[in-house]
Amino acid sequence: MSRKLIFNVFKYNPLDKDDRPKLKTYEMDETDGMTVFVALNYIRDRLDHTLQFDFVCRAGICGSCSMVINGTPKLACKTLTSDYKDGEITLLPLPVFELIGDLSINTAKWMNDMSKDVASWIHTNEQTIIDNIELPMEPEVADEVFELDRCIECGCCIAACGTKQMRPRFKGAVALNKVARFLADPRDDRTHADMFELIGDDEGIFGCMSLLGCDDTCPKDLPLQSKLAYLRRKMVSQT
Ligand code: SF4
Ligand code: SF4
Ligand code: FES
Repeated sequence: MSRKLIFNVFKYNPLDKDDRPKLKTYEMDETDGMTVFVALNYIRDRLDHTLQFDFVCRAGICGSCSMVINGTPKLACKTLTSDYKDGEITLLPLPVFELIGDLSINTAKWMNDMSKDVASWIHTNEQTIIDNIELPMEPEVADEVFELDRCIECGCCIAACGTKQMRPRFKGAVALNKVARFLADPRDDRTHADMFELIGDDEGIFGCMSLLGCDDTCPKDLPLQSKLAYLRRKMVSQT
């Protein structure tokens, strides 16, 4: 027999001046292999058509369904309800990001500003001639770039970062990971000194307290711990 699940879900419409933030409780039967994402769809289809939350891929690829699940930032589509033994699950929107409504947040605006902040694109003086064949890249270099490029910009590392809560302009692990990614890419002409201009202060790598909430919560298991340590070493050598 399936067990009962209880969901306590944050509800708030910031556009309605009469609304106040609250937790609303929903109950349902658990099904085999149920994820939090499946449960949210059940709530919206059967119990509360007004519930707002985001998703696109349902496969841990788009980064849209990030939320705080029983106190930890996670992807709803990759989180099994069976992981919560007492059957009670509380869902809150990720902090830091602009709230659209209920569990829906605007990560896109934040990520866009962050990308501009660390200029996360290839910088080169080489002219691109599209008829030329692709330049070869050593497999181990390509592997490293690909590894860091797996970030889905879900925002979990930002929501889990104590420094970000205290220092609003701190760039966070997602931005620092992008700097490491472009430093690893031989097509990018930028030097360590150029990167120091972007992240060599308390809003960048020197603001990081190395408590590794980012590394603990990243759903793509990016090597944030080793890359933050690497950037700290390289940026200290620029001082
Ligand atoms: S290690 Fe640095 S970036 Fe990661 S959560 Fe802690 S302060 Fe934030
Ligand atoms: S580094 Fe990890 S937690 Fe942070 S935005 Fe990228 S995928 Fe999400
Ligand atoms: S819906 Fe795309 S990561 Fe969850």
